[in-house]
Amino acid sequence: MPETGNRALHIAAIAGDGIGPEVVDAALPAIVAAAAGEGTSLEFTKLPYGAEHFLQTGETMPDHAFEQLTAEADAIFLGALGDPRVPTNEHARDILLGLRFRLDLYVNFRPCRLLHPDLCPLRPPASGTRHIDFAIFRENTEGLYLGRGTSSDEGTDDEVHVAHEVHSAKKVERIITAAFTWAHRHGRSRVTMADKSNAVPAHRLWGRVFDRVATAFPDIEAEHRYVDALAMELVRDPDRFEVIVTGNLFGDILSDLGAELVGGLGVSPSANVHPGRLGLFEPVHGSAPSLVGTGAANPMAAILTGALMLDHLGLPNGAERLERAVRSALAERITTPDLGGTYSTTGVGEWVADRVRGD
Ligand code: NAD
Ligand code: IPM
Ligand code: MN
Repeated sequence: MPETGNRALHIAAIAGDGIGPEVVDAALPAIVAAAAGEGTSLEFTKLPYGAEHFLQTGETMPDHAFEQLTAEADAIFLGALGDPRVPTNEHARDILLGLRFRLDLYVNFRPCRLLHPDLCPLRPPASGTRHIDFAIFRENTEGLYLGRGTSSDEGTDDEVHVAHEVHSAKKVERIITAAFTWAHRHGRSRVTMADKSNAVPAHRLWGRVFDRVATAFPDIEAEHRYVDALAMELVRDPDRFEVIVTGNLFGDILSDLGAELVGGLGVSPSANVHPGRLGLFEPVHGSAPSLVGTGAANPMAAILTGALMLDHLGLPNGAERLERAVRSALAERITTPDLGGTYSTTGVGEWVADRVRGD
């Protein structure tokens, strides 16, 4: 972790596609202000990689850019990748999944926290007050995402694709350990592991490793759910969940479900990390092509992603400043249309940045 205080940190920004550049531009001033409040200046270098660059040059992310990143950046901040002009999504595979894999960012940390009670689409619980605050630990380096397998007779009636889903003991163990360690450090009392071992024999590895790792954390309840039942229970009673650990694909799906429970993709951040190493920070949402240029993209997910980045960079107070400012914006209804407001992407970004500066 870099030293902090009266120094500059270098952030490589990949704004990417669709609403990516809009939310990144709207979020940066607030993030810069929050770091400045902690005596740290952030220097952003914008990198051009994304669909447009790919279509113009044929280049996704060249090796020299990757090497420069790893040599110079303290963190990578990414908007979104995905463009209808690249239906294969090959540039996103290379850039986004490429960074996750090459940097071995095995923890995809996706907190789902209800920052304002009105944001939850569910009826209030019997107790009266909703309190949703769980974190998804998504395995980020294997599963089906490796894209391994074979294809034959493509384009014919006999077309067959075999996709290998990879689960290796060491990689399952490190993500489960990360989930328990985080739970322990944050005073959480339960970790829920989700798999589909009743149908997919390979998933039994998750149960064995989970039980073993759990013995090192006797104060934390270790519970198992099949992922289909977990999806159901997350809607029925989200308040009871604290930490969820699961594989790559299930984590992807559950994180959009979790996002919607707390206000949607417009307010849901994520961090791709390997403790002690260069991390990649991106909202959970994608490039939302239909919102491009409308000013309706919510920048709060990107701002809260900035908070996760500052926390990782050793600036937890800066992270708290950002979160406080977003909570104030929500309380005062300074929001984009997804949350029922009339503010624009830049309007929300400016309001939050001003609030951070005045904090
Ligand atoms: P999406 O997240 O872009 O959009 C899903 C829905 O959420 C849409 O209705 C969209 O309008 C809304 N939404 C998303 N972000 C929002 C925001 N900030 N404010 C308000 N509303 C928001 O998912 P999709 O439509 O399935 O995918 C679009 C493209 O994005 C695809 O190419 C996909 O592969 C890509 N994608 C990229 C990432 C990433 O870069 N991390 C993540 C998810 C999807
Ligand atoms: C996400 C996205 C990506 C994923 C896509 C764009 C490859 O959905 O970050 O959640 O599946 O990981
Ligand atoms: Mn996703």
